[in-house]
Formats: sequence, C-alpha cells, structure tokens
Amino acid sequence: MGHEVIRYFDHAATSWPKPPQVIEAMQKAMLDYGANPGRGSHAMAVQASRVIYETRRHLSQLFGVRNPMDVIFTLNTTMALNLAIKGIVRPGDHIVVTGIEHNSVRRPVEYLRRIWNLDVTYIKANRQGVVDLRELEQSFRPHTKLVACSHSSNLLGTILPVGEVGEMTRKRGVKLLVDAAQTAGTIPIDVASMGIDMLAFPGHKGLLGPQGTGGLYIAPDMELEPLLHGGTGSQSDAVEQPGVRPDRYEAGTPNTVGLAGLNEGVKFILNETVEKIHTKEWKLTQRMMDQLRQLPGIELLGPDLGEDKTGIVSFTVKGADNAEIAFRLDREYGIAVRAGYHCTPLAHDAAGTTRTGAVRASVGYTTTEEDVNAFLDAMRDIQTHSK
Ligand code: ALA
Repeated sequence: MGHEVIRYFDHAATSWPKPPQVIEAMQKAMLDYGANPGRGSHAMAVQASRVIYETRRHLSQLFGVRNPMDVIFTLNTTMALNLAIKGIVRPGDHIVVTGIEHNSVRRPVEYLRRIWNLDVTYIKANRQGVVDLRELEQSFRPHTKLVACSHSSNLLGTILPVGEVGEMTRKRGVKLLVDAAQTAGTIPIDVASMGIDMLAFPGHKGLLGPQGTGGLYIAPDMELEPLLHGGTGSQSDAVEQPGVRPDRYEAGTPNTVGLAGLNEGVKFILNETVEKIHTKEWKLTQRMMDQLRQLPGIELLGPDLGEDKTGIVSFTVKGADNAEIAFRLDREYGIAVRAGYHCTPLAHDAAGTTRTGAVRASVGYTTTEEDVNAFLDAMRDIQTHSK
C-alpha cells in the first residue's frame, strides 16, 4: 500500500476499520478459550459456547427477536439466503423477488427454477431502485410460497419499505425473506413489527464484525430443510439432523473467534444506536452527492439528494471507464472504492447502467469529513485532468 492514509469507501462490501474491541475480543478468544463450543463440558468449551450465545442475544436485541435460539449463524449473507430459499421452496412453488436483487438471491432462485420448475416473478423497480409495490401486491397467486427482497440495493442504496411488504405477505399467509446485507446495523430493523419471517444478515458489514460471520433469523413458526447435515455436538446417536435450534441449522464447528468479534461489533452498535449511525452516514452521502453532481459528466444513481438511503453513492462518469476511475482513485490518491457490476446485474438493468457499470463509494461509521474532502478533491482532480 503506497499511500500513508487509506481513505476507505468500500463499507458496502466490508466495513473497515473495526472498533478495537472487536479485534481484542477475537484475540482473547484465540488466546484464552479457543476450544470447540458445544462439543465438550470443560471450562474452555463452555466459555466458547457462552460467548456465542451472547452474540445471539445481542443480535436478538438489535433485530427485535424474542428467542436468541432463532438466530442461526452462517458464514455470510449468501449462505443465509441459500439456507432460507432452498429450505422453504419446493417444486412447483411460486416465488416473488424484486428487480434489484443481488446475485445471492437471483442465482439460488434461478437454480431452483431450472431444477424444480419454480415459478418466479420479478417485480419492476424504477431507475432509482424504487420497487413497484402495486405490482408486488398484484403478483400473489394461490401457490405463492415466498417473497424474497433486498432491504436495500447494494448498487443504489434505495430503502425498500419492508413493513408495507410484510403487511401484504402476512395477510396472505406468504413468507417474507429480507436480505439485510446493506442494512443490518445501519437501518432500523424490527422483525416482529415489519412482518419479517426470515432475515439474512452479514456480520462483516454494518455490524462491524469480521468476514466469515453472518446469519439468518428464522421465525419460530417456520420449518426449513437444513442446508448442511453433520455433527452438532447434540443428539449424536440420531441419524437425522436434530430438530432443536440452532443445532438443526448449524452443523460443524462454528467460527467462534469471528463470532466473539461480531459480539463486540453488535454491542458497539447497540450502544451508539442504529439511528445515530444512519444519520451520520446519510449526512456524509448528501455532501458527496451535492458536490459530485456539480462535476461535469457525473451521473448519480439511486435516490435524489435529500431522500432517505443507505451509505452508498454510486455514479457513472461520461466518457470514462468506471474501472479506470476506481483504479486511479486507488493508485493515485489512496482511495478505495468498488467499480463494475457489484454482483447485481438486475439493479444495473433498473438503473440503465448495464453497458457501463458504475463506481460505488460507500461510507461507514468511521468515515470522516476529511475522508469525504479527500474523495471529492480526488474526483475533481481526475475530472480536470481527463479533459
Ligand atoms: N455484496 C457485497 C458488495 O456489494 C460484497 O460489495
């Protein structure tokens, strides 16, 4: 890394840096109690189990979950979404998804369509990523099993009114799966009042934990087929996967070290409050948008200035390659952004950027005004010198 100060604008992919207590907790887990949770009764194994339970408890507090055992840990949001979708859908079912989904929803759904003849409806979104709720309301059929939707597009930052979708699904007895990859820890989520039956979340983004952590909340009245089968440390004599949660969905040794770090990330958020984090990130995006739109050739994607959104600012630069802009920001200015298609061709279709791709600068709780100034200066410089 050739720059003294790295200005990090890739929080939508993985937040960085983490609060120091996240790193300290991971180090403590490695040094003091790095044994296998749920697989022994000695003190170190018990301590590992206790920390993992505490992480479930804090996540439950954050998402309004009543029973922490309904929070299942996975490696990431993709694995959580696969568990949810493959666990509930059966041949011939109808599933409704939105037109801005990430490939982690689109690909499992399309895979099931291919092998099981799944009936799939995509609901249109406009250029700014606003999903047509009237069309969604009209999409229900007698065999609709699931609505799967992103709480917020990882390209556009548009926030879906999940509560309204939850009202529609509840009325019809259809299950609602929400992909909170871009909102967990940065936008308020309450599974009960929003009518969410399953919530897939990453540990390494807004929750400020390490990579290799994530999870799925599963409502207590739901039964999913497990994604993985194997050892759980419980009911070892049974051939079948145990019925009890979380063991039913957590085969194999978990990521104790990562979950110890995630625990501290979630505690940090509970202490700061999601509302405060969202306000801070929103203000930063507004300044970035306001300044960027004054530069020639820049077209901002997603909600207009002043509208609610997550900490994402995506844009195209007329006549320039988005990958080259990202490369120059990195090499010449020490600024980390993501460019390309962001694993969401659907959202690019909606935004009209399928041909060009886009540059995405995403902020997090640690982003400072100085970072934003440096980013804006760099963009001005690049624009001036590319004419
Ligand atoms: N899905 C993550 C992103 O949007 C990795 O960058």
